Amino acid sequence: MTTPRPETLAKLTPVLTKRWLSPDAWRIGTYEQLDGYAALRKAIKAHPDDLIQLIKDSGLRGRGGAGFPTGLKWGFIPQGDGKPHYLVVNADEGEPGTCKDLPLMTHDPHALIEGVIIASYAIRANRAYIYIRGEAVHAARRLRNAVQEAYDKGYLGRNILRSGYDLELVVHSGAGAYICGEETALLDSLEGFRGQPRLRPPFPATHGLYASPTVVNNVGTIASVPPIVLGGADWWKSMGTEKSSGPMIYSLSGRIVNPGQYECSMGVTLRELLELAGGMQLGHNLRFWTPGGSSTPLLAAEHLDVPLDFEGVAAAGSILGTTATQIFSDQDCPVYATYRWLEFYHHESCGKCTPCREGNYWMVRVYRRILAGQGTHEDLDTLLDTCDNILGRSFCGLGDGATSSVTSSLQYFKQDYLDYIEGRTAPKLSEKTLVGAH
Ligand SMILES: Cc1cc2nc3c(=O)[nH]c(=O)nc-3n(C[C@H](O)[C@H](O)[C@H](O)COP(=O)(O)O)c2cc1C
Ligand code: SF4
Repeated sequence: MTTPRPETLAKLTPVLTKRWLSPDAWRIGTYEQLDGYAALRKAIKAHPDDLIQLIKDSGLRGRGGAGFPTGLKWGFIPQGDGKPHYLVVNADEGEPGTCKDLPLMTHDPHALIEGVIIASYAIRANRAYIYIRGEAVHAARRLRNAVQEAYDKGYLGRNILRSGYDLELVVHSGAGAYICGEETALLDSLEGFRGQPRLRPPFPATHGLYASPTVVNNVGTIASVPPIVLGGADWWKSMGTEKSSGPMIYSLSGRIVNPGQYECSMGVTLRELLELAGGMQLGHNLRFWTPGGSSTPLLAAEHLDVPLDFEGVAAAGSILGTTATQIFSDQDCPVYATYRWLEFYHHESCGKCTPCREGNYWMVRVYRRILAGQGTHEDLDTLLDTCDNILGRSFCGLGDGATSSVTSSLQYFKQDYLDYIEGRTAPKLSEKTLVGAH
């Protein structure tokens, strides 16, 4: 185990996580003692357009994976259109390895609720929803209790803080499907339909929930709003990098001493995060990792010093995604890891479009063949060809994301594939898994 040096410890910037270790952090009393609802009191006196401008000025980008500028998204909501507006918080958190939104809602649910109220006020919405993953029963219970506390204190409901502004907030549990994290599938699911992505355009900004103007934002995005209102855009921009401002919760898992959530200014490197997390486990050396969940191309040990912001990770050939940093060692097999992720994408594919539905089905079978010691050199071309037919040809990002670990593992670890095919690595799967594989 390594002990972090003071200069590395200084990389920690607890903003969203700052209350997590306080006793009863999830209760409204604790929250109010620690700055809670002070941002709302300030925001509710401001003009909604000024709040949108503040978020634009802060450079806040979505924490749900794509990094879309939040203020810009809010600004797309047409005003004076006579239609109801909605804010929908995406709390589905289904990306493998991602673990930042559920801990936030469990430890500090009022941070999200306060952000919801300010964001809804800014976009002139009188109804908001938090769509939470169905399996996250504990987090949903905490959130529902916190929502009730906020109603009881007059932060939600009619005439909030005597401002004349009304907001109803509903916590909605999904049934547990990865595709329901995709924002348009989420909206269909919220409306009671089967969760499948919608054709765009029109975009949710004009035709979202119940065909009305809707902002869909991630939990981390919305929870960032109160600190920005309190601290100001310049303070927010003093953390992070020029185009990726603010702090970010990096969830670290895998072969490290202390897995968990580490909130640092954007642009921190994996080398620094590893130091904060106590280093690699004894006897393990870093071999490959995901910078932002399993939908993002794998990186290797040579990428330890890549700045983990939107631009830095893109320049290294991957995607920052959800900052779910999964760390694998020289005792882990990139072929097997990729196979397990593909099983997930195959299972979670909603079936709406052919490239993703069929492509993932066949790729799983090719992987089983390779891992059972019956693969051929042509199988590697088949995998790349299949990815080529999924990437950019799928109806939504699930299909694209499924190809990431396949192409990147073939780029960095082709020898591992060849070792199975040429018999140097013992098969990991038995022939029984090959039923229907040929
Ligand atoms: C298959 C798939 C799953 C997704 N899952 C999530 C999720 O669990 N949570 C989330 O916030 N965004 C998820 N997204 C991204 C959303 O579609 C959307 O971009 C995001 O909620 C926007 O919020 P933001 O601008 O605050 O990042 C997913 C996208 C895809 C394609
Ligand atoms: S890419 Fe996959 S999940 Fe997305 S619409 Fe097509 S089949 Fe459904």
